Amino acid sequence: MSKKVHYSELGLVNTKEMFSKAVDGGYAIPAYNFNNLEQLQAIVTACAQTNSPVILQISKGARNYANSVMLRCMALGAVEMAREMGSNIPITLHLDHGDSFELCQSCVESGFSSVMIDGSHLPYEENIALTRKVVDFAHQFDVSVEGELGVLAGIEDEVSAENSSYTRPEEVEDFVTKTGVDSLAISIGTSHGAYKFKLKAGQAPPSLRFDILAEVEKRLPRFPIVLHGASSVIQSYVTLINQYGGKMEGAVGIPEEQLRKAAASAVCKINIDSDGRLAVTAKVREYLAQHPNEFDPRKYLGAAREELIALIKHKNEAVLGSAGKA
Ligand code: G3H
Ligand code: 13P
Ligand code: ZN
Repeated sequence: MSKKVHYSELGLVNTKEMFSKAVDGGYAIPAYNFNNLEQLQAIVTACAQTNSPVILQISKGARNYANSVMLRCMALGAVEMAREMGSNIPITLHLDHGDSFELCQSCVESGFSSVMIDGSHLPYEENIALTRKVVDFAHQFDVSVEGELGVLAGIEDEVSAENSSYTRPEEVEDFVTKTGVDSLAISIGTSHGAYKFKLKAGQAPPSLRFDILAEVEKRLPRFPIVLHGASSVIQSYVTLINQYGGKMEGAVGIPEEQLRKAAASAVCKINIDSDGRLAVTAKVREYLAQHPNEFDPRKYLGAAREELIALIKHKNEAVLGSAGKA
């Protein structure tokens, strides 16, 4: 068991102030997943350069891959790196898709400033009980808690669902009141990964269920809503991947204009992981194909990092509207 650390010692903040500003300002805070050095460098650089608040997300899988102590120390490094760049952007360290009280507790005790407890696959009352337990613990340390109602299609970390079930607006007030969560992830047609819809040739992706979002907003005015599975699956990356030996036919995501519309309303946190993965994979494949003699990881990971910086700046400026809001 590693030593206990409160997030304030790491220079991190919880989501309270950033969400309240985002709700009033009609934009969304970006939540980017990271698993390694280059991803984190890119997130910090791009958010500092665009003066955007940021949520750094770590999944259970990321903790297993990279080591929990390593990731926490990297988050401390992220804060110090931003300050060295002359930037004072608020930075949150968030557990993405926590699947147990024990995991959330461990993250709170090791310096996270926000945790998600994902009980969305549980029966309603069990979701409430588990979420309440996490809230009661986390709030003692001023750590924010995100809950989820409704199930996204695809894989939710280690929780799989064949089909989505949209959030039922008639449940949200009861859930938020009984659990005390600080934000709520809802299901309105997004899904995780790079294959969000099965489309026929020339067919456009279906619209997100903005009617459900509006109904949720009516019942929970000014309450922070979270959108998971919000990558756009940028087609230029899919094309590059396929051009240089990959096989990702039919990969498709959420159109940017729909995300902009969501960000302008009650959605104040947008989760993006797959687009970053695509950017890295596309650039690594391209670089290695074009430089077959190269074997220095700094070269191809450096190229990937540059692309990731450009992608995140674009997201902050043109999709989420968080640029300049730190
Ligand atoms: O929603 C899931 C995130 O994209 C994290 O994915 O569990 O493969 O790290 P992961
Ligand atoms: P994407 O797979 O669409 O990037 O969603 C990421 C996510 O929701 C992380 O929790
Ligand atoms: Zn998610």
